[in-house]
Amino acid sequence: MASEPVCVEDFEPYLKTRVSDAIWHYYRGGADDEQTLRANPLAYQRYRLLPRCLRDVSKRDTSTSILGQRLSFPVGVSPTACHAFVHRDGEIATAKGVSNAGSAMVLSMFSNKSLEDVAASVHPDTPLLFHLNILRDRSRVEAAIRRAEAAGYKALVVTIDQPMLGNRTYIRRNNKDMDPTITFPQVVLPGEEITREKARAIVNEPQALTWKDILWLRRITSLPVVLKGILTAEDAREAVRHGAAGILVSNHGGRQLDGVPATIDVLAEIVDAVRGSNVEVYLDGGIRKGTDVLKALALGARAVFIGRPAIWGLAYDGEKGVEQVLGILKEEFSLAMALCGCSSLSDITPDLIATMPYSKM
Ligand SMILES: Cc1cc2nc3c(=O)[nH]c(=O)nc-3n(C[C@H](O)[C@H](O)[C@H](O)COP(=O)(O)O)c2cc1C
Repeated sequence: MASEPVCVEDFEPYLKTRVSDAIWHYYRGGADDEQTLRANPLAYQRYRLLPRCLRDVSKRDTSTSILGQRLSFPVGVSPTACHAFVHRDGEIATAKGVSNAGSAMVLSMFSNKSLEDVAASVHPDTPLLFHLNILRDRSRVEAAIRRAEAAGYKALVVTIDQPMLGNRTYIRRNNKDMDPTITFPQVVLPGEEITREKARAIVNEPQALTWKDILWLRRITSLPVVLKGILTAEDAREAVRHGAAGILVSNHGGRQLDGVPATIDVLAEIVDAVRGSNVEVYLDGGIRKGTDVLKALALGARAVFIGRPAIWGLAYDGEKGVEQVLGILKEEFSLAMALCGCSSLSDITPDLIATMPYSKM
């Protein structure tokens, strides 16, 4: 760790040295045997790039939009809980780094900073989206939505792959109260005082969520709804039928059902399933390189999101560290475009990809 980080993985060791073992495993780990956690980044090796030469790539435009909101490159930050474990400014530092990088952030409902303080800390044109778990107590969900609307959040990103918490072996082994001072300001009702134990119980309650709740959500808000956690074409078609504006192909970073495929392996069939609708498809899980971003776009994602790497940047140097991680991804992505013969995102097409069977690897 002596030299400056030069790639995204170089940031990870800083998290390990700067937090307790319990917190390190909380961020690092996945469910059960962590098959899916390992599969996410590894699967990119199956997709090889077929570059085109002799195209003028001296100027490249990496910019794009999601749900009409501009991004300087097609990478945003996925919702991860409890940034206060890692940095005293928590999600405010993360959001500032995201904003400086021209990226977008999905603020976790289980953030430790208030959604209003986070919104006040970014450039006005930074797209902030608000993450929701549809908690059993719907009044808490509705209160959080009203606050997100008032603070200018652009969309709701609803976690749908967590009817119950996955079996996170590492957390159970390190079952300590990681930080008793942590609070969840988006879970309490305005003016309400609740104990930390009650807040935790609310966060961990099984959700009893069905497709009808997505219709309920669409009735009570005009914000676009993105469904996070879809892994099959069947659910993608249901998402279209239930009026989703976006799908985030995700396996929760390997933290929910272990043994599900790497997200990049199911992306193309989901893109196919929603073809002809206006639904935008995004992906998260295992994105560590600019070439990973390019591969996901070639297979049909409109943008991708990172979870853990943003936390590594936060541990490395707060706001600046998050900006650095995103900046490296942007540079690598821009270089990958040049080397593939692409000068804008519309040049990134499926014919840039050769898919290798697992048996040939
Ligand atoms: C510590 C941690 C907390 C997370 N919290 C949430 C959450 O509250 N809701 C959710 O939908 N996803 C959550 N996720 C999953 C991320 O949104 C994202 O899907 C995943 O981290 C992407 O994979 P990556 O870490 O390999 O980039 C969490 C992930 C981590 C590592």
